[in-house]
Amino acid sequence: MAEPSVSQRERLEALLEEKRIYPPSEEFRKQANWSDPAVYERARKDPEAFWAAEAKNLDWIKRWDKVLEWKAPWARWFVGGKLNVTHNCVDRHAASSRRNKAAIIWEGEPGDSRVLTFEMLQREVNKCANALKSLGVKKGDRVAIYMGMTPELPIALLACAKIGAPHSVVFGGFSAESLRERINDAQAKVLITADGSWRRGGVVPLKANADEALKGTPSISKVIVLRRIGDKTPCRMEPGRDLWWHELVDHASDRCEAEPMDSEDILYILYTSGTTGKPKGVVHTSAGYLLGVSVTHRAIFDVKENDIYWCTADIGWVTGHSYIVYGPLANGTTSLIYEGSPDYPDRGRFWEIVARYGVNIFYTAPTAIRTFMRWGKEWPEKYDLSSLRVLGTVGEPINPEAWVWYHQHIGRERCPIVDTWWQTETGMIMITPLPGLTATKPGSATKPFPGIEAQVLDEKGQPVGPGGGGYLVLTRPWPAMFRTIYGDPERYERQYWSRYPGKYFTGDGAKLDQDGYFWLLGRVDDVMNVSGHRISTFEVESALVDHPCVAEAAVIGKTHEVKGQGIAGFVTLKENVKPSDDLKKELREHVAKKIGALARPDDIFFASELPKTRSAKIMRRLLRDIAEGRVLGDTTTLADPGVVAKLKQQYEEEGIVD
Ligand code: PRX
Repeated sequence: MAEPSVSQRERLEALLEEKRIYPPSEEFRKQANWSDPAVYERARKDPEAFWAAEAKNLDWIKRWDKVLEWKAPWARWFVGGKLNVTHNCVDRHAASSRRNKAAIIWEGEPGDSRVLTFEMLQREVNKCANALKSLGVKKGDRVAIYMGMTPELPIALLACAKIGAPHSVVFGGFSAESLRERINDAQAKVLITADGSWRRGGVVPLKANADEALKGTPSISKVIVLRRIGDKTPCRMEPGRDLWWHELVDHASDRCEAEPMDSEDILYILYTSGTTGKPKGVVHTSAGYLLGVSVTHRAIFDVKENDIYWCTADIGWVTGHSYIVYGPLANGTTSLIYEGSPDYPDRGRFWEIVARYGVNIFYTAPTAIRTFMRWGKEWPEKYDLSSLRVLGTVGEPINPEAWVWYHQHIGRERCPIVDTWWQTETGMIMITPLPGLTATKPGSATKPFPGIEAQVLDEKGQPVGPGGGGYLVLTRPWPAMFRTIYGDPERYERQYWSRYPGKYFTGDGAKLDQDGYFWLLGRVDDVMNVSGHRISTFEVESALVDHPCVAEAAVIGKTHEVKGQGIAGFVTLKENVKPSDDLKKELREHVAKKIGALARPDDIFFASELPKTRSAKIMRRLLRDIAEGRVLGDTTTLADPGVVAKLKQQYEEEGIVD
């Protein structure tokens, strides 16, 4: 494990200067869903009773026999219970007074829009579920989904959940190769995709990428293709394999029984980057997950019956799974979905959407907030944002400056901000303010949610006291926790539960302040966080060395003003290969093609040698010092300290340091 980096220490020093406190207003507190501080103590004393009481808000086919079975690191929640997730998210609302309430409000990038009430959503989900069944998909079969942000994406997820087929959504920005790898790992039977999706007025060629991926995916027998773009993008249909959504799904029956699912049956697999090149299939199960996301959504966003809630994430990431689809819909909330980018057709797009629909709750990422800051307050100022009541942020540490800007220019100093810390693995928000209860401090995710226990440990595994820093761990099982890594239980144990036996190791550094607030410092492993997206240095290195000109590569996350981290690659070339700007460009594109545009390095730097220890380990820490223009740290363990000094000089001469 890497020691906390210098940039983390710098973040910490800046945060320690942060003294501003924002208590909830009396007016907000009075109307908040959760406004009694006793909830923390109640949940701490008997977490199982706390979760069980909340679980009564779900519809069960069979009530559970036991709330929790915990043999670290293996958890089973609501043992013996049976329910169906889609029944809870859609059918029960369609059968209630919410029937004609908007479940999904969808805004397309080109300006088209759709509203689906709970009853309409139920019909669409049922049709899709029946279409999947007609292709032979049964309970337990995996379905891969590679789509843009159209209503058919949540429909596809919910259809899978209705028939008990675990879905594996692959973000539409991933490459053909990444898609193939994920399909093969999950051994998916069917792929659901689209001809393309709109992005900044251009087309992301989803089907063309899928065709490329499908050259090496023997488990896939059928492909359902949504027509989103039409004539503006080529879309070849493979006879016998590919079927149009509008031919297959639109003609299927709109009635479908929900499959009774065991609490612990798999709901979905979602791949995320770890410290090796191979993405991990994070497994989430049914009852505990649904409970975790619905309770947190209701409490943290203070959602009311007639609210319009908008989370700007992509459903391809866990934030979209938990807080666009499952959490909000389980609560019968109207969830807004936007297909495109925040600067199309102009930089006011998000605020125009907030104003037009009267959005009440808005949840986005620090990288987006920093982008808005750069674009200037003039954009949000043009719009009426008075409908907003709660603001949220997720995905990476937020710098106090961005927090305060969000508070002033979007929340107009009225809206509490919830800075929510969690991960793909945790499934649900874990450390967060409760907006009616918690006095917030810009840059701190504040405290664990009721029923959650977190600690900051030192190297030896001792909890640090107030003012101390170290590694963030979670010490108690929680309902939405992932249960394993798909097909690799050994990795689950080793990677998450062995560093501090019996405790979940998050991979994040954190600090506790005098009030017991948590300040997240970023990853302490070889995982980068680029615009809130997790990318492993190892994946990018593998993509670089895959290029015929590259001999060796070392990749680091380099502090970036907007993205949080940018990707810098240090590359040594094979003999007789000449460095050039064209080659740099080619290498950047090579990585984008191998993994996806999100992993395209910001900088490539050609080095004649990389700094290594005597046991030939590349010292990324020193590369980070070089890339961030700092004085070099300790170089005594290097095999040849001259290498790094030369590299630093060369790097500065090339003027890459910004
Ligand atoms: O480093 C933490 C950061 O994002 C990581 C999890 O990434 P992922 O699994 O892709 O899930 C992102 C959305 C839940 C964490 O290990 N992170 C997430 N939220 C925060 C954060 N860092 C600081 N503050 C946050 N609020």
